[in-house]
Amino acid sequence: MEIYLDTANIEEIRKAVKMGVISGVTTNPSLMMRAGQGDYRRVTQEICYLVQGPISAEVVSTRAAEMVREAKKIAQWSPYVVIKVPVTADGLEAISILAQSEADPDKICQGCKWVDECPLDRDIACDLTLMQGISTNATLVFSTNQAVLAARAGASYVSPFVGRLDDIGHEGMDVVAEAAEIFINYGLDTQIIAASIRHPLHVTQAALLGADIATVPYGVLEKMIRHPLTDLGIERFLADWKKVGG
Ligand code: E4P
Repeated sequence: MEIYLDTANIEEIRKAVKMGVISGVTTNPSLMMRAGQGDYRRVTQEICYLVQGPISAEVVSTRAAEMVREAKKIAQWSPYVVIKVPVTADGLEAISILAQSEADPDKICQGCKWVDECPLDRDIACDLTLMQGISTNATLVFSTNQAVLAARAGASYVSPFVGRLDDIGHEGMDVVAEAAEIFINYGLDTQIIAASIRHPLHVTQAALLGADIATVPYGVLEKMIRHPLTDLGIERFLADWKKVGG
C-alpha cells in the first residue's frame, strides 16, 4: 500500500518527502484554507514539483459542465495533477466525461515557477499528459455503492472517508473492505484511497483490507514513526557505547 500525505502544508510535505515514504498528496479546499494557501495553482504546482507523484486538487463547481471546465484548467497545471470530484450525479457525469478527455500537452505546466528546476523533463511531461488522460479522484465517498458508481464512471481513484463515518457511529473501514473485494471480483482497476484517516491503526487496517493507498495527515505519519521502545533502545545503545568509550 502506498502512503500519501493529506495536507496542503508545504513544510509538512517537504519533511515527508525527505523521509522517502510518500508517493502522493491529497488536498482539498479546507486543507488549503488550513495551510493559509490562497493561490491554488501555485501551491499545487509546488507540491507536484516537490513530490513528483499524483497530487489531488479539488474542483469547487457543483454542476457537471462547470466541473469539467474547471477540471480541464487544473489538469494543465501538471501531468501529476489528479482532479478530485465529489460523488454526486453531476460529479459522476463530470468523471465520465473527464475519463474520455485529455489535457493539451502543449499547455502542460504553463506558468509553473519550478519548471526549470523540475526533474520532470518537458518531453516526458508531454508524453505523460498524452498517455494518462485526465485522472480523477472521486471524493466524499461514504458508501460502497458510491465507490462502485465512481469506478464505473471511470474514476482513477475513489476515496472512502473512513474517519468521518466513524464519527457518526459507522464502521468506516467497511467501505474500504467492501470496495476492495468488489473491485477485485469485477476487475475494476480504480484505486482505493483510504481517506479521512485519524490514527495509525486506520493505516494498518486499510493495508490489511486491500486499500491501494492511505492518505494520512502529517500528525498521523509522525505517530506511525514513533515507538517508545525504539526511543528506549536508542537511549540504551548510546549509553552502552559511552561505557565502552565509543
Ligand atoms: C481526502 O482526500 C480528504 O482530503 C481527507 O482525507 C478529509 O479528511 P478529514 O475528515 O480529516 O477532513
